[in-house]
Amino acid sequence: LSLGILISGRGSNMAALIEACTDPAYPAQVAVVIANVADAPGLDKARAAGIETVVVDHKAYDNRDAFEAALDSALKAARVDLVCLAGFMRLLNADFVKRWRDRIVNIHPSLLPAYKGLDTHARVLEDGVRVTGCTVHFVRPEMDHGPIVIQAAVPVLPDDTVGRLAARVLEQEHRIFVEAVRLIASGRVRVSGDKVLIEGSAP
Ligand code: GRF
Repeated sequence: LSLGILISGRGSNMAALIEACTDPAYPAQVAVVIANVADAPGLDKARAAGIETVVVDHKAYDNRDAFEAALDSALKAARVDLVCLAGFMRLLNADFVKRWRDRIVNIHPSLLPAYKGLDTHARVLEDGVRVTGCTVHFVRPEMDHGPIVIQAAVPVLPDDTVGRLAARVLEQEHRIFVEAVRLIASGRVRVSGDKVLIEGSAP
């Protein structure tokens, strides 16, 4: 399965996927990394790994449709099968999401449907919840919503700061993103309505 990874920044989730794909037994390869920010640090990591990179800068387009048409062409040109949103900080229109329906996944740093949106860890700390985590889900037009492939739970500790908590969650993000793509690429994932069924695992 050919992956197209979309990033806006650091790209540590991207790097985890690139690293997994270096194993010949892993059922996916990274075809292209696309960033909407020309100086996203993740781009250098991708180039260093010998991956093709493309910049589609949203500021260079008149509107979101034009931006997304450019994204779509870049993904098609690289013959991408599965789009992985890895810290990609732009919302995608319903049209784009529909075109890639069930072929686009996102990683989000909370246990969805709790804590959609930005600054999840700060809000988690403010609310005093004891458990948080991360989610890989198929993308639907509503932000941070869609059939859930994998989640991992992470404890919130009494002396946590946003930084410490983010680091603990990030470790799990890298693990479940790699695992979710493995499941999808091996054909074990079926989307049924609002839910994901994983073959060979208990319901
Ligand atoms: C991750 O926490 C991801 O879940 C998110 O933004 C962060 C991106 O990190 N929404 P990286 O660019 O993958 O390092």
